[in-house]
Amino acid sequence: MSDRPTLTTTAGAPVPDNQNSITAGERGGVMLQDYQLIEKLAHQNRERIPERAVHAKGWGAFGTLTITGDISKYTKARALQPGAVTPMLARFSTVAGEMGAADHERDVRGFALKFYTPEGNWDLVGNNTPVFFVRDAYKFPDFIHTQKRHPRTNLRSATAMWDFWSLSPESLHQVTILMSDRGLPVDPTFMNGYGSHTYSLINAAGERFWVKFHFKTQQGHRHHTNEEAEQIIGRTREGYQEALFGKIEKGEYPRWKLQVQIMTEAEAEKTSYNPFDITKVWPHGEFPPIDVGIMELNRNPDNYFAEIEQAAFSPSNIVPGISYSPDKMLQARIFSYADAHRYRLGTHYENIPVNQPKCPVHHYHRDGQMNTYGGIRTGNPDAYYEPNSFNGPFEDASAKEPPLKIEGDMSRFDHRAGNDDYVQVRALFNLFDDGQKSRLFSNIAAAMGGVPGHIVERQLGHFHKVHPDYAAGVRKALKDAHGYEADTLSAAE
Ligand code: NDP
Ligand code: HEM
Repeated sequence: MSDRPTLTTTAGAPVPDNQNSITAGERGGVMLQDYQLIEKLAHQNRERIPERAVHAKGWGAFGTLTITGDISKYTKARALQPGAVTPMLARFSTVAGEMGAADHERDVRGFALKFYTPEGNWDLVGNNTPVFFVRDAYKFPDFIHTQKRHPRTNLRSATAMWDFWSLSPESLHQVTILMSDRGLPVDPTFMNGYGSHTYSLINAAGERFWVKFHFKTQQGHRHHTNEEAEQIIGRTREGYQEALFGKIEKGEYPRWKLQVQIMTEAEAEKTSYNPFDITKVWPHGEFPPIDVGIMELNRNPDNYFAEIEQAAFSPSNIVPGISYSPDKMLQARIFSYADAHRYRLGTHYENIPVNQPKCPVHHYHRDGQMNTYGGIRTGNPDAYYEPNSFNGPFEDASAKEPPLKIEGDMSRFDHRAGNDDYVQVRALFNLFDDGQKSRLFSNIAAAMGGVPGHIVERQLGHFHKVHPDYAAGVRKALKDAHGYEADTLSAAE
């Protein structure tokens, strides 16, 4: 008898033969009673679940967040108290490509974090950029359509991208970062992560503070040029997976320093920009970053599908002491992610081990796909509704947030009116040295190949408003790359 485990059916019975199907005679046909054959084929047909509508290609690992600073005067969240060590999961991703896309493509990178805190899961679903392309979720599906494939050609369309961007000046900040060196990191360990939105912190006295979260790479920033990335993609399409998985296997654990910027409610009334607008940063000079702790990734998943593909990150997952803000994009994301998970993973997606909180969970949700709770989640089968007289779980008023003052009429407000979409992009452009500027120009020119002149000119108009050198640099790079000459008709419009 070998000490290998016995192969069984999913129902636990031993499988006598895993090599030969049951046939009528040596040459066939195959018998319908060969349930194991049917079971294997049927399982294979169900091995894929819908890929994420965005951020489909990703790489993930587990680790810890250790709090070394003291921000207890701003938040009561237990995971952010001095000395707290919280287990966590990170999933990095590209936005536009499908699951099989090459890792080394120029794109924004997702930076999704799930912290398994003693008070429930806190998810921070950010990017490697502090800003975003649009500021109203109403425009998000349109924007994403420009990043995905054209319905007729089934190819990605530079025309669609630049048409949308040039008609949406709020995208300029993110487009400039995307086309700069930081748009193509060497691997996920060489980039920052940003919560991007404004969130809130609430302290033990019930006071609210606005907050931005930043994760600063401790590996340093390293980036590839387009040409270097092309070489890599020729060699491997999985460069990020190889790097992240490989480093952690070797014990080279990547680290990020967690910093926050804090703004009081009174200060938020006075900023020259809307502090809840995700196309804007809070300048460090006005709101200096405060050191909070260190995030380290130190464990690879054992099963990529179970632990990374099935991971469900959602900005709706907050814990006492950390909450939302009026940011219009964030408000929509609070709805959108859990909705995506119910579709992609099933009703009880939070019961999949990687998504399970590591604290007691009690709720009154009942039946539905994949209810594997093994008993009711209230602790008492008679307490299956609320209110009840059977000692069922009860609300905790201490988790209540302070009221948020709001004012004004209900309407569809023009989010572009009175909004300066150029000043912060100028601050960024002025940070770039000559080499960074010249790579920015050539990356943009490369991405604009084949775009009609009237769209190019519209976009150059935005670059000009940031800085005349920005427009002139891109115009020259367009001429060098594609022989582009000014579309005088459009330019004169
Ligand atoms: P600061 O000079 O105080 O901060 C500059 C910030 O820019 C740093 O966080 C730095 O990140 C980051 N940065 C440096 N080089 C690049 C680059 N090539 N691409 C993207 N980011 C870069 O100035 P301000 O706070 O006044 O911000 C000026 C501009 O910097 C902003 O308009 C914005 O575009 C950009 N920025 C600002 C951030 C913020 O939260 N204030 C965050 C990130 C970018 P690091 O420390 O990792 O090098
Ligand atoms: C993934 C919607 C804006 C970062 C997703 C998914 C959806 C979505 C539906 C797939 C979720 C899944 O299937 O698990 C939206 C909507 C937005 C928006 C409606 C605007 C209103 C943003 C912004 C950021 C962001 C502003 C970053 C600041 C991410 C990340 C992922 C993701 C990192 C991948 C999460 C993972 O690794 O599983 N988004 N998104 N998104 N989004 Fe957004």
